[in-house]
Amino acid sequence: MRDLLDYRADFPILAETTYLINHSLGAMPAAAEERVLEYARSWNTRGVRAWEEGWWELPLTVGDQIARLIGAPPGSVSMHQNVTLAEAVVISCFQFDGERRRIVYEHGNFPSVRYLYQAQARNGAEIVVAPDDEGVVGAIDERTLLVPVTHVLYRTGRIQDVEAIVARAHESGALVVLDAYQSVGTVPLDVTALGVDFAVGGSVKWLCGGPGAAWLYVRPDLAATLEPALTGWQAHSRPFAFEPEQDYADGAWRFLTGTPNVPGLYAATAGYDVVEEVGVERIRERSVEQTTLLLELLGEAGFVSDSPPDPARRGGTVVVRVPEPERVGPELVARGILCDWRPEVGLRLGPHFFNSDDELRFTVEQILQLSRAAPAGAART
Ligand SMILES: Cc1ncc(COP(=O)(O)O)c(C=O)c1O
Repeated sequence: MRDLLDYRADFPILAETTYLINHSLGAMPAAAEERVLEYARSWNTRGVRAWEEGWWELPLTVGDQIARLIGAPPGSVSMHQNVTLAEAVVISCFQFDGERRRIVYEHGNFPSVRYLYQAQARNGAEIVVAPDDEGVVGAIDERTLLVPVTHVLYRTGRIQDVEAIVARAHESGALVVLDAYQSVGTVPLDVTALGVDFAVGGSVKWLCGGPGAAWLYVRPDLAATLEPALTGWQAHSRPFAFEPEQDYADGAWRFLTGTPNVPGLYAATAGYDVVEEVGVERIRERSVEQTTLLLELLGEAGFVSDSPPDPARRGGTVVVRVPEPERVGPELVARGILCDWRPEVGLRLGPHFFNSDDELRFTVEQILQLSRAAPAGAART
């Protein structure tokens, strides 16, 4: 088994920067460059033959690798351009005109996803926004059709009580759409054990797979009953017959639309390979050590954090309130410490399995130094 710090050599940017922004854009494995070249070579040398030599099936073959990472059976995951579109495919399976036309979602959902569900009010959906995971459980009733929730909140890194939400939703006949973007690759997820109906995520963050490769899992027994209105020829059971009417294919195929994002799918698997090789359980163990150390160091330096103190509820990101995050954040970046900041919570630090404890110590020292340079009157918290 390779030492975790040994993997640093596989991520070139780590030689140049302190890379703590894996909750936003995971570091690129050098192998991703090779995969993109492989794509270009296949286009160049195989031309149109590349479609039948693997390109057409990519949304499912790449989906099968995601399936291994999320505890899903083969053939149950399809790949899409982004999470917003994957959720739009889910929404398009339903009509919001009967007694059961409520969407109960949570305040902490990622804005893009919120905008999409809000827009369903135009199609007759009744939108209920709950303040948190407990609130979601309380708001679900017999009028609820869909419950889009997030596994790990993007703003605070809090792990939500998805089990309780699934239990309540299923008791009242509602379906859960889980956004696992901020968990997969750092917090273990088993969609089968959890019993969620749909799950989505992307590759940009902890999976180190880059943009353009989002995934959609649909519970296999449910998939067979759904006919998405947002559809296309990849969802047809005989796409090359060019028939005038849709005839939905089986399994994950039926959730596809048009031509897949081939280069994005080539690039993405390099990151998945590393995550699979290291193992999410091992990544999680290291992540808990790292976030615990960060919170200790930040606490000793007098900073306040909105990250959950209980490691069981804490995902891979630590947030910390600093005076003027909009000044301190860019100054950290200028010093080679890559991180970001969000309204209300301050800086976000997302170490991955390849970061060292020394990097975390260095980062807290720099945050302290830059915060001391704050104009008179700015509070530490
Ligand atoms: C939890 C979560 N959901 C969704 C997204 C974005 O989704 P999309 O792929 O549509 O850009 C993000 C991105 O930051 C996220 O953190």
